[in-house]
Amino acid sequence: MPASPVLGAIPEEAETAETLRRVDRTRLPLHVAVIMDGNGRWARARGLERIEGHAAGVEAVRDTVEGAARLGLSALTLFAFSIENWSRPAEEVAVLMELVRKYLRLETDNLVANDIRFWPIGRLHGLPGPVQASLEESVLATAGCRGLRLNVALNYGGRAEIVDAARRIAARALRDGAVPELDELAFGDFLETRGLPDPDLMIRTSGEERLSNFLLFQSAYTEFWSTSTYWPDFRRRDLYEAILAFQGRNRRYGALR
Ligand code: IPE
Ligand code: IPE
Ligand code: MG
Repeated sequence: MPASPVLGAIPEEAETAETLRRVDRTRLPLHVAVIMDGNGRWARARGLERIEGHAAGVEAVRDTVEGAARLGLSALTLFAFSIENWSRPAEEVAVLMELVRKYLRLETDNLVANDIRFWPIGRLHGLPGPVQASLEESVLATAGCRGLRLNVALNYGGRAEIVDAARRIAARALRDGAVPELDELAFGDFLETRGLPDPDLMIRTSGEERLSNFLLFQSAYTEFWSTSTYWPDFRRRDLYEAILAFQGRNRRYGALR
């Protein structure tokens, strides 16, 4: 519902442009993370099957990614499938995997056209072979892109990522006969997000206010923004609203500021 009769008279695109106009492009978050939640409830509210909600969520991904690129964001990380999501019915999991392939099939050319570099994160070797092949194709196709870095977390879990980092460090120590020099920054090089700044802003849709095992190490000082909107209804305008809220926050990092 529009917020007021006046706003209701403004077409959707004009509202988006108006929100975008209020964003301070000199103070953009460097890295935005999104927990895309609420597909099932979106479907249930319409008397549809859960999988219809997942299918509708693809359009939200498309619009949000394009909106992020247009805005000039450096990095966007989308949580698409958690390690814990394997515990859902096999049919639902299969649909989600197929949607990943469909999105990449339909969108990779568009990613290249918008200079977007695609980068999947998570335990990718645990994904079905055809999904791994699609991911590799899109990574290769977008390897030369230098605009938005689009990370998609698949078969991802924050604790698993930290354990995997510890394993890599142990393997390196065995190989070199010495534990590598480690501090918090150096540890980050063993995580899936190596080379990226920590997320400044984390968005979660569907009204939930929890991390659900997403980017645990990286989100120590991330600003959290939750919206009641279900993921399939999320559009770039919501991303801009989140960034506006972020720009009004006072980040203190434990100090007196
Ligand atoms: C998010 O929507 C998609 C995934 C977690 C893969 P959900 O499927 O979690 O939808 P709800 O939370 O049950 O509504
Ligand atoms: C988080 O959503 C995972 C993804 C968005 C991929 P979930 O729906 O799985 O999280 P919980 O179960 O509500 O915590
Ligand atoms: Mg959910």
